[in-house]
Amino acid sequence: MEHCFGCLKDDVKGFCSSCEKKLFDRSKINPQLNFNWEDISKVIDGYPAGFSISGVQTKGFIGKATGTELSPNLANDENSIYIIKPLLSRFDLASDSPANEHVTMQMAKQLYGIRTAECCLMKFTNRTPAYVTRRFDYNKNEEKLNQEDFASVLQAKKDNDGRYKYIAKTYEDFGDVLSALNKVEFIRILIFNYLTGNGDAHLKNFSLLETPDGDMQLSPSYDLMNTKIHVSDSPIALNLFRELERTGLPRGQNYSYTIKDFTELGKRFGISDRLLKKTVKKFEDTEGKMKEMINKSFLSDNAKSKYLEIVKTNFEQLFSI
Ligand SMILES: Nc1ncnc2c1ncn2[C@@H]1O[C@H](COP(=O)(O)OP(=O)(O)O)[C@@H](O)[C@H]1O
Ligand SMILES: [Mg+2]
Ligand SMILES: [Zn+2]
Repeated sequence: MEHCFGCLKDDVKGFCSSCEKKLFDRSKINPQLNFNWEDISKVIDGYPAGFSISGVQTKGFIGKATGTELSPNLANDENSIYIIKPLLSRFDLASDSPANEHVTMQMAKQLYGIRTAECCLMKFTNRTPAYVTRRFDYNKNEEKLNQEDFASVLQAKKDNDGRYKYIAKTYEDFGDVLSALNKVEFIRILIFNYLTGNGDAHLKNFSLLETPDGDMQLSPSYDLMNTKIHVSDSPIALNLFRELERTGLPRGQNYSYTIKDFTELGKRFGISDRLLKKTVKKFEDTEGKMKEMINKSFLSDNAKSKYLEIVKTNFEQLFSI
């Protein structure tokens, strides 16, 4: 059966009309792109100054759709509407990385009500998959909104190159700057990341974003994926608690967590017991729902079974007591 390249709805060829509207503000967009990753990367690689958007991988920027096509915005990231990510360049099952990020983002949004960047899967001309996300740091009038990642917000230590260390803080430290509502959402994101095997939720994968009122609030989530499919990393990128600082741990050693740790963090944030209970309850017995979405996703069969296995283990571990 075919599924929507955005929301994974059954029996859809290409995009369903609601995804077309949300992602592209128009109808009849073809998930098949009329360019290849190399067409973008060869231009990017020639730029000495680099781009303002950070991250491990090179990313492309694409502009508004014209007709039924998206077009690469080869000049720079200014006024691009979308960010396009190619396959991970190394690691296991690298060709599954776009579908992995896509299904993980969709599960966060559809199953747990986490605010996420709008995203979809597309295909380059040579059939390799691409992950495409619509930028949330521009408003409807195409004005840039301020965005600041948590390495900078929390003024994480800098390493010898003068760059912020991605893991030099704990999740408890986020509580110093998040609003009450954001704190609840943050706990939800952390539980979701744990269950879906995301060992990469470091300081740069969380940001504050300017709201229409000029406040800085937690931005929609981005870069959610099951990293364990591709690499054997730690169960969680940062430690939950200040007293268990990860950077102070001997190399290769990790703490393991249960749901009680996440509720303890919630308590330290000042979230009421009632609200914490409700937040945790939303995750209980939802393994089946995750399984359903993973099976509908664009992952290969091999990656699906790996994803399912990881989710099963994590549900057991988190809710075993
Ligand atoms: N939809 C989006 N809108 C605006 N900024 C985004 C969006 N998605 C990602 N970013 C920004 O781009 C950076 C890199 O994207 P990310 O998905 O984290 O890539 P990587 O896998 O290379 O870390 C993020 O740290 C974030 O600042
Ligand atoms: Mg990232
Ligand atoms: Zn859809």
